[in-house]
Amino acid sequence: MKAVILVGGEGTRLRPLTYSTPKPMVPILNRPFLEHMLSYMKSHRIDDVILALCYLPDHIRDYFGDGGDFGVKLSYVVESSPLGTAGAVKNVAQHLDETFFVFNGDVFTDMNLSEMLETHRRKSAKATIALTPVDDPSMYGVVETDADGRVKRFVEKPRREEATTNMINAGTYILEPSLLEYIPSNENYMFERGLFPLLLERGEPFYSFSSQAYWIDIGTPEKYMKVNNDLLTGKIATDFPGSVHKKNVWAEEGHKIHPKANIDGPVVIGRDCFIEAHARVVGPSVIGPHCYIGAGSLVEKSIVWHNVAIGKDTKIRQCIIADAVNIGEGCDIAAGCIIGNNASIEDNALLSPETKIMPGTEISASHSSGC
Ligand code: GTP
Repeated sequence: MKAVILVGGEGTRLRPLTYSTPKPMVPILNRPFLEHMLSYMKSHRIDDVILALCYLPDHIRDYFGDGGDFGVKLSYVVESSPLGTAGAVKNVAQHLDETFFVFNGDVFTDMNLSEMLETHRRKSAKATIALTPVDDPSMYGVVETDADGRVKRFVEKPRREEATTNMINAGTYILEPSLLEYIPSNENYMFERGLFPLLLERGEPFYSFSSQAYWIDIGTPEKYMKVNNDLLTGKIATDFPGSVHKKNVWAEEGHKIHPKANIDGPVVIGRDCFIEAHARVVGPSVIGPHCYIGAGSLVEKSIVWHNVAIGKDTKIRQCIIADAVNIGEGCDIAAGCIIGNNASIEDNALLSPETKIMPGTEISASHSSGC
């Protein structure tokens, strides 16, 4: 089965993380988000995947190659300028000669894709859109359907009291190739504002697939943290990388955890990590591969990417620390800070809550800075 994954967006809401790491490569339990996605798709027999790229395409291509290591066939098509969600699918039309899935490349879900495909076929639909419930529909575009699941109307941000449904677009579609004719070539064109209203206008058989499965769009720092936490705390099932170091602590090979270090799970520790005596890691936390945590330091409820060095007696709480960041001794990094790739924080620096540090920035003890 074929699928297109839309991975061309700049991920502006996840900045500064996405200035140098495209959103699909942002790690979840120490594996790029897209790797989780491919494994989920494969479990539903989707094994021929076209990646519609635009922003930082080489990061993705270099890691995944032809897909062989991940059990899927991967093709890449790069847009020279963003074509929008539907425009990006039109741009890969040469690969699409049978029923295919389209996925937003930033949704973590365990929705049943096989059932969705079955629904699409049973209804003889030309398009099927997956729907997921939200608590407050006034923040989203909702999708109204009839009793048979046929899509009737898209309503953008309805007032709470006027909303007739709380089901929103889950960012997964099944389309028949004949619909590609409705999408203009080489033009920025969106599903929500372009193709979908047009399908309704033309009376095409456009159906929905409602699912109560786990669903989260990882596109903001809060939601990115949440999906990691939900996996670590077992809200959604996953295979943890590495082996069990102790209860609720998983560590990959090559780690050196001092017997006097204190790891309170749930915590995942990447390969070749070095954790010194009296350092504390409090879960839910993820420590990426090749990290160093100095003696007496605290890392609490945080996500630390690859190759991060943390000096002794430093405190980090509820933060996201990107690749190759250097944090000195005696620092205090308050809740909600996000530190971009290759930044460097001098000894004794204090970062106030929610500070965002641009990639490559050097922060001295006398000042804290944001982007
Ligand atoms: P924000 O800037 O934070 O909104 O992120 P985004 O643009 O990356 O994501 P958004 O939620 O707006 O888009 C949903 C999905 O469509 C994401 O997986 C994007 O990568 C993808 N996407 C959005 N626009 C384009 C585009 O022009 N081309 C391609 N190929 N993909 C796109």
